Amino acid sequence: MAENLTPFSHHIPLAVRERINGHKALVLWFTGLSGSGKSSIAGALESILVERYQAHTCFLDGDSLRSGLNRDLGFSDADRTENIRRVGEVARLMFEAGLLTLVAFISPFARDRERARALVPPGRFWEIYVDCPIEICQRRDPKQLYRRAGQGAIADFTGISSVYEPPLHPQLVLHSDQFGIVECAEQVLARMLENGVL
Ligand code: ADX
Repeated sequence: MAENLTPFSHHIPLAVRERINGHKALVLWFTGLSGSGKSSIAGALESILVERYQAHTCFLDGDSLRSGLNRDLGFSDADRTENIRRVGEVARLMFEAGLLTLVAFISPFARDRERARALVPPGRFWEIYVDCPIEICQRRDPKQLYRRAGQGAIADFTGISSVYEPPLHPQLVLHSDQFGIVECAEQVLARMLENGVL
């Protein structure tokens, strides 16, 4: 634990950033199994937000951050917890910069997601559960990871040999087995409009 630190407090109020941006700041946290569509839906939503609303956004996704900031982490329970801790901290910084922050990580542990939620003010963290049966994810298998995990070639694979804890009270559930990527993105957008985010 670091000692003798005095974090510098933000001197530009969030309300000022939001007025300049023309929208609220929010963390949109997509959680779900590998292959459920988290990144695709978050990416589609980001495109809509930028192109249709000229919104200021940031997109954080598991495969990307794991290639850089989190390249030292694997898939043990402890490493996933550290992965989500760091992502939560990055999401907090992006939120404080006034951005619509789209986060797409499996984030399998409820406790880790709650810790990330606690880093931003109440109501500013939406847990969005991309709910897709594992059989469908396995059938899609865009990265051929389920096939390899089934052969025992990938240890600790979520849903196969590592646990996924679904959110108990998500702000939004997207049934990505029943709706297309853009439809799911539009469902999130509709909720944002209802809540005066945009
Ligand atoms: S998390 O569990 O720590 O939140 P994260 O979202 O960052 O996971 O990364 C998941 C991505 O890593 C998957 O989409 C997949 O491409 C890849 N991956 C590689 N090994 C595994 C594994 N054992 N379990 C789950 N995903 C894995």
